[in-house]
Amino acid sequence: MPEGEIIGESRVQDSVTIVIFGASGDLTHRKLIPALYIAYAQGLLPARFTIVGFARREYDDAVFQQMLAKSIQQFSRLETDPETVARFVEHVRYHKGDISTPGAYESLKARFSDTETYPENRLYYLSIIPSLFAPAVKLLKEAGLVAKPGAEHWTRVVIEKPFGKDLKSAMALNTKLLKYLSECQIYRIDHYLGKETVQNILSFRFANAIFEPVFNRSYIDHIQITAAETVGMEMGRGGYYDEYGALRDMVTNHLLQLLCLVTMEAPGDLSAESIRNEKVKVLNAMRLDIRKNISDAVCRGQYGKGTDAEGKPITAYLDEDRIDPKSTTESFAAMRLSINNWRWAGVPILLRTGKRMAKKTTEIVVQFKVPPLQLFQQVECDDDVCDITRIKPNTLIFQIQPNEGILLQVGTKRPGMRFVVEDVKMDFSYSGTWKKSLPEAYERLLLDTLHGDSTLFTRSDEVEAEWRVVQPILDNLDRLQPYTYPPGEWGMPEADWLFHGVEGKWRNK
Ligand SMILES: NC(=O)c1ccc[n+]([C@@H]2O[C@H](COP(=O)([O-])OP(=O)(O)OC[C@H]3O[C@@H](n4cnc5c(N)ncnc54)[C@H](OP(=O)(O)O)[C@@H]3O)[C@@H](O)[C@H]2O)c1
Repeated sequence: MPEGEIIGESRVQDSVTIVIFGASGDLTHRKLIPALYIAYAQGLLPARFTIVGFARREYDDAVFQQMLAKSIQQFSRLETDPETVARFVEHVRYHKGDISTPGAYESLKARFSDTETYPENRLYYLSIIPSLFAPAVKLLKEAGLVAKPGAEHWTRVVIEKPFGKDLKSAMALNTKLLKYLSECQIYRIDHYLGKETVQNILSFRFANAIFEPVFNRSYIDHIQITAAETVGMEMGRGGYYDEYGALRDMVTNHLLQLLCLVTMEAPGDLSAESIRNEKVKVLNAMRLDIRKNISDAVCRGQYGKGTDAEGKPITAYLDEDRIDPKSTTESFAAMRLSINNWRWAGVPILLRTGKRMAKKTTEIVVQFKVPPLQLFQQVECDDDVCDITRIKPNTLIFQIQPNEGILLQVGTKRPGMRFVVEDVKMDFSYSGTWKKSLPEAYERLLLDTLHGDSTLFTRSDEVEAEWRVVQPILDNLDRLQPYTYPPGEWGMPEADWLFHGVEGKWRNK
């Protein structure tokens, strides 16, 4: 099996034309084309396929092919072979056009009359700003470039987050898309769902009989999810980020999707609809855990200025390029939720995400309750200095990135005369077990779209259910003014208050 192959993945059978709107952009060059190249190099693309790059810039096929060849060499996770790259880019064409102009679609349609070069199954990848999603889909439909579901040849449309800015705009976007496409033709990408550990959450829970019986309010003390980044607003991120912020950019999609996977009920089967039905059910049961005020359940922050580990200055959020100096957009958000169903009622759920944090990490920590009778004491050692403490609860950690893996912390008797317990880790890491570089999320997700498997994509009702969880925060932003937090640390003390009444604290590791 070639290095890094998606295990068990089969070759796409349907010949296809893949049109990438926004083909001169960052996502195309860094992720989409390298992912398609790897699929090609591993023999997973169909025998007949053409990739059409669509953007306004003046390129011709040859220039565009050369640019993509360079991007593949720069960004492919696997070593590239020049001959294979050359054969791959022969499948690429460039189409110059403005997305909001009907003429661009007429000329695209004229190209497509050569069905030998442009197979009639079509995947349209909208790697463009969200305000262009609806115009693109409308004009594709009006130009006759969208097949009816169930027709001889299929049409699928992939869109990138953000799917709206709040519940109202998300519903409006869904309405517009569903006017021209049917739900089964829309693939809303959340690239977190393409990661191995994320998919493994379901296998871990439902393929092993030992964990699922204790995954409930009787045994679990709380669940915390962290998605921390060390970067700030480099590389022109500022403009987009200041419009959206941590709540809209991270919580409403990635963090709630992770939470769905750890808390949903087992689906009846592994079909896309069964899994997504269960996710919608648990999303509909999620609420902010507000006692008296919304600020008991939510806190927002912006990083201040500071210095990094090498002593280089770090610019404060409000002084960053393309950030409004009076902005109240959060670069950090933390919240406490509850899930109002029989399995999870009363179990605190804590989420946090932020920029300029101490470490790049995304993890889900499931903390169990301590045993009802405390027979033992625990030893906790920091190098040579050891302390006797209360018994520590077991924790199960899904490490999503980096170093994807699963960690179970249990107490064992420390060798010696006394009955004291020390924490040990049962540690499973993907790299240690399979010694292969894992497929990038986009590799998996692009192949799924070509196979017509929508399991790892977000359905319209799921998107709306996610916004319903976050909307009360968006409605009360004036009561949740951001605190300033020091860069390079784990946020701010105000986020610790969310743990009131909980046996535990944020895992800052
Ligand atoms: N980059 C990432 O890592 C990332 C991650 C997650 C999600 N996303 C999402 O993916 C989408 C694309 O992101 P990106 O970073 O690639 O953006 P980008 O670098 O700004 O690229 C935008 C692309 O859209 C094209 N474009 C803009 N207006 C157009 C028009 N009227 N007609 C035709 N083409 C037009 C631009 O090409 P011309 O100027 O040549 O027309 C360019 O190719 C965005 O929705 C973003 O939120 C990106």
